[in-house]
Amino acid sequence: DRIEKGGYEHFMLKEIFEQPRSILDSMRGRLELEAGHLNMGGVRAYERKFVNADRILIVACGTSWHAGLVAEYLLEDLARIPVEVEYASEFRYRNPVITERDIVIAISQSGETADTLAAIELAKSRGATIFGICNVVGSSIARATDAGAYTHAGPEIGVASTKAFTAQVTVLTLLAMIVGHKRGTLSDTRLRELMVELSTIPAKVEKALLLNDQIEKIAETFKDVPNFLYLGRGYNFPVALEGALKLKEISYIHAEGYPAAEMKHGPIALIDENMPVVVIATKDSSYEKVVSNIQEVKARKGRIIAVVTEGDDVIPAMAEFTIEVPATSDVLMPLVSVVPLQLLSYHIAVLRGCNVDQPRNLAKSVTVE
Ligand code: AGP
Repeated sequence: DRIEKGGYEHFMLKEIFEQPRSILDSMRGRLELEAGHLNMGGVRAYERKFVNADRILIVACGTSWHAGLVAEYLLEDLARIPVEVEYASEFRYRNPVITERDIVIAISQSGETADTLAAIELAKSRGATIFGICNVVGSSIARATDAGAYTHAGPEIGVASTKAFTAQVTVLTLLAMIVGHKRGTLSDTRLRELMVELSTIPAKVEKALLLNDQIEKIAETFKDVPNFLYLGRGYNFPVALEGALKLKEISYIHAEGYPAAEMKHGPIALIDENMPVVVIATKDSSYEKVVSNIQEVKARKGRIIAVVTEGDDVIPAMAEFTIEVPATSDVLMPLVSVVPLQLLSYHIAVLRGCNVDQPRNLAKSVTVE
């Protein structure tokens, strides 16, 4: 058992630590820095479709849906294509408008999620082109799509998805870069900058993993709380949702992810001296605004755990705990900022004596609708 887990106590921890490698594997043969090329076999045949798309629909569930939200920011930002991200389970029950000009991206680690598969069948019947992003080769979703790209993250055993998420985001980043460049919305220079930066991400994730011991200590402090709030803006908003989902599923602590600025429209009422608030506050275009959001939490005595960019000298004075991650471009930050949140949920769950790899009531792939 221990051998299977590569010396780690749980599959989830092994998979979290595999991320520098799995992210690299998801870029292999696709990001060719020296030649200055990006290649994705599945996109090539549908290049014109992508370039001329009026909009892209993304369907997925759970963590894969969070990767879809990151993709919405990426595709709108880099390729200027309007994107809608749909819960696969809702999409099919509301008579959605789908046309032959639409591209539907279906994201699924297992490739067996019943709701996602059913959403694909519906979109197909209306003539849309379906692009799949799956981890399991030859899975039902991979077979049901017109084209696609595998994430190549390797088998994910832990029910809580970790390395599959970062691999999905990596592939979606490459897709947005390819399509943006072809559409002329991403300049040669910016493309080159992003390619160089993306190639540094495995090393940055490696560095973020060095936070493990610090995060275990933070987990000690919060292991018995009943609630958690996660806040983020921009590219870090989906990361806040993902951090909250990870904590819920393996530690059974109630957690909510929120866009930081939405807090004042309701959840701020929950904040008192007993409420831990994880704020992803890395240096990006919304940094100043997030600092004000932290002040709002602090004024109500919320307990702030801040994920910041290395060298930040403002937030540590405001937060009870500060977790420093390496700097990167806004666009790529989810790949790095999600790592401490995965570790935090892992350690809290272990300290609570939970079955981390097989949490109650959950299955690795949800094959019922
Ligand atoms: C993630 O930690 C969950 N276990 C779950 O939300 C999962 O992401 C969802 O069921 C979708 O699975 P899929 O990617 O295999 O389609």
